[in-house]
Amino acid sequence: MSARPFEGQHALVTGGSRGIGAAISRTLAGLGAKVFINYVERDAPAQALLAELRAAGHQAELIRADIGEPDDVRELCRFVAERTSKLDMLVLNAGATVFRHAHEFTPAHFDWVMRTNVGSVFTLVQGLLPLLEGHGARVVTLSNGAAVRFMERNALFGAAKAAIEQLTRLLAVELGPKGVRFNCVRPGTVATDVLQVRPDLAAYLEKERTRGLGGNTTPQDCADAVALLCSAQAARITGQVLVVDGGVSLG
Ligand SMILES: NC(=O)c1ccc[n+]([C@@H]2O[C@H](COP(=O)([O-])OP(=O)(O)OC[C@H]3O[C@@H](n4cnc5c(N)ncnc54)[C@H](OP(=O)(O)O)[C@@H]3O)[C@@H](O)[C@H]2O)c1
Repeated sequence: MSARPFEGQHALVTGGSRGIGAAISRTLAGLGAKVFINYVERDAPAQALLAELRAAGHQAELIRADIGEPDDVRELCRFVAERTSKLDMLVLNAGATVFRHAHEFTPAHFDWVMRTNVGSVFTLVQGLLPLLEGHGARVVTLSNGAAVRFMERNALFGAAKAAIEQLTRLLAVELGPKGVRFNCVRPGTVATDVLQVRPDLAAYLEKERTRGLGGNTTPQDCADAVALLCSAQAARITGQVLVVDGGVSLG
């Protein structure tokens, strides 16, 4: 197997500048792809990652866009289309979370969480379809355990992630004839910036560390799963949700 199986291919990673997305950007670039790294607000980590990848001899470009804003998504799609006629990998990684009890959600929370997590799957796939169809492209979405079980203060986010999982299956069937594979990665708890708001994070990670295979799930574990689903070896895998949590969610 080639050390750079994605040589000559193009990938777009939404939210690709920090956390799990940064590991995905690094991994796909390391495997030879040119990576378009999307982010929304924080220039510094995005610029640092770009410099790191280019210093390592990889190809990458940054594109700032809020995936929850259809005008931004149009610009993002135009940016990619100006640089390549074929997008080989689309990783829909960026997510929007509001940690609240179900009775505390406002209509604005509902609109933002659904638009950013679920609406963006439609707008990005629709906008990029001309670049995805007809040449074996792979789309990978990111879910969360709240899609399938109760997680404290995660009702709205869990509903959005459940929609993403089902959309992954539906799009796999609908767009399979166009040669596009759709799969989803559902990671366990990964200690990225977004979780630092949890006052119980250390205790939570410690509890998980002792279960299943032991240890905690890392951004690299998730990135490796994305690369696996994008690989030629996964050519017959579509419409699936791959759980990456060391067995923690099984008991
Ligand atoms: N961490 C976990 O435990 C965990 C577990 C299961 C699933 N997941 C899922 O994995 C994915 C990545 O999670 P993470 O923990 O790595 O998140 P994170 O650290 O919060 O990811 C931040 C990245 O997303 C970008 N971003 C945020 N909102 C965006 C928007 N509206 N448009 C474009 N980019 C946006 C950020 O850009 P800026 O830097 O500009 O803000 C940054 O690049 C999410 O879908 C999440 O639900 C995470």
